[in-house]
Amino acid sequence: MNEIQKRIIELKKQNDACILAHCYQTHDILEVADFVGDSFGLAQKAAKSPNKKIIMCGVRFMAETVKILAPEKQVFIPQEDAGCPMAEQLDVEMLSQLKAKYPDHKVVAYINTTAALKTLCDVCVTSSSAVKIIKKLDADKILFVPDCNLGDYVKKQVPEKEIKLVSGGCPTHAKLTADEVKNAKKAHPNALFLVHPECQPAVVALADFVGSTTEIMDFAAKSDKTEFIIGTENSIVQHLGIEHPEKLFYPLSKDCVCHNMKLTTIADVLHTVEGRTGFEITIDENERLLAKKSIDEMLRLGND
Ligand code: 13P
Ligand code: SF4
Repeated sequence: MNEIQKRIIELKKQNDACILAHCYQTHDILEVADFVGDSFGLAQKAAKSPNKKIIMCGVRFMAETVKILAPEKQVFIPQEDAGCPMAEQLDVEMLSQLKAKYPDHKVVAYINTTAALKTLCDVCVTSSSAVKIIKKLDADKILFVPDCNLGDYVKKQVPEKEIKLVSGGCPTHAKLTADEVKNAKKAHPNALFLVHPECQPAVVALADFVGSTTEIMDFAAKSDKTEFIIGTENSIVQHLGIEHPEKLFYPLSKDCVCHNMKLTTIADVLHTVEGRTGFEITIDENERLLAKKSIDEMLRLGND
């Protein structure tokens, strides 16, 4: 641990703060976190954390989810500008119009949405819980927003339901191509290809394993294979390389970087735990209560 990391650990104890980190954060941030996980794991943890303050190292919708579930806590995001571009793609007015067009469909929203958008949704899902939740959902007609790539993946896993998609998605994952996969497989013929379902269907179709960030990391850790091409944000390549130096991990593309996730540095985490910087999340109480229903439903259907 370096001096900054040691100071963070000391201060978070003194200030009754807990640090949650998404897997796309840098490795030095993961090392000082109380919990590291994918979007589903972070939501589960948020509801249970005993601390007064929560510092969410990730992007804004993740911090909003924490505040929605734990309104009595002070929730901070170290960098105010760390937002997920996908979360801004669909606004309340657009979704209201879609709901009017498909009045008999239940609205399922990827958790990468704003708190305001969640107020109009029946249930949220994450990449690791979407298939399970949609299978269990008491509805055969579904409007899935906003990620059409994750939606396409779910549609293929749950063909018995009618799932309408809208055009939206993650700019970081959507730019990965099937040609890049073919080239990477040629360069590393013994490697398994692990991919996030936010990638385009043509890329997902070439995968040996499809899963969320945590699921990809668990799969690589448990596999008896030693080479992997990673089709998700490149921090996962770094974490896996550090945690399993006996194995080889290749990024599918050097450009698979989420600049919003990379905005937060270990120094920002220190300054937030010191109380010098950091942005405190606030949500209107009516909006919070409405948005909470869709997250509670996600935790209910996704947990057992
Ligand atoms: P998961 O954490 O569910 O794998 O999602 C990845 C992501 O892009 C979060 O923004
Ligand atoms: Fe949003 Fe994509 Fe970045 Fe995840 S990786 S935070 S979905 S832009």
